[in-house]
Amino acid sequence: MKLGVLVSGRGSNLQALIDAIESGKLPCSISIVISDREKAYALERCKRHNVPYAVIKRKDFSSQEAFEEEMIKALGDVDLVVLAGFMRILSAHFISAFPMKIINIHPSLTPAFWGKSAQKQALEYGSKITGCTVHFVTEELDRGPVIVQACVPVLPDDTEETLSERILAYEHRILPQAVRWICEGRVKVNGRNVVVESAMYGTLPVNPQLEVF
Ligand code: GRF
Repeated sequence: MKLGVLVSGRGSNLQALIDAIESGKLPCSISIVISDREKAYALERCKRHNVPYAVIKRKDFSSQEAFEEEMIKALGDVDLVVLAGFMRILSAHFISAFPMKIINIHPSLTPAFWGKSAQKQALEYGSKITGCTVHFVTEELDRGPVIVQACVPVLPDDTEETLSERILAYEHRILPQAVRWICEGRVKVNGRNVVVESAMYGTLPVNPQLEVF
């Protein structure tokens, strides 16, 4: 399977995919990484690992549609588009070019705290558990059908940084895992309901605050 990965910044999730591929745990290749920012650190990772990349900036195009067309052209015949910290909202035009072939990693347990600064939203809300989600991309921002989620506790002295770091460690696990399931043809989508064939569904790994029961 050929992946196209869209990034805007640091690229630690891209790195998790590269590491999984290089270590033989992910049976696919990255055909192209597209960044909408030329200074994205993700591009340094591409150079270091010989991953093809392109910089496509919104401001170089007169419309969102023209910008997206350029990305669609650059993605070519990829089998899956992975949004790994891509900070732009994609329109129906782009989404329909890859029907149920775009996935996103989001740092909350969706549908809670979609949109920007999800970790800050969880802290401000006073949630005791949050986490991250890999989902299919639909026109509903950050709320497409869920493939996999991981949860982490929110601790009383957490800052946005400490909470983000705790969540990120799980992002780096569930994103390659979801891509691997898709590569293996085990992901079945029925409306909003996604089932991963033969995956382990079971008990929650964390239950903070439960001292007795
Ligand atoms: C991650 O927290 C991801 O969930 C969010 O943007 C961040 C990107 O981080 N969508 P990185 O660029 O992969 O390091």
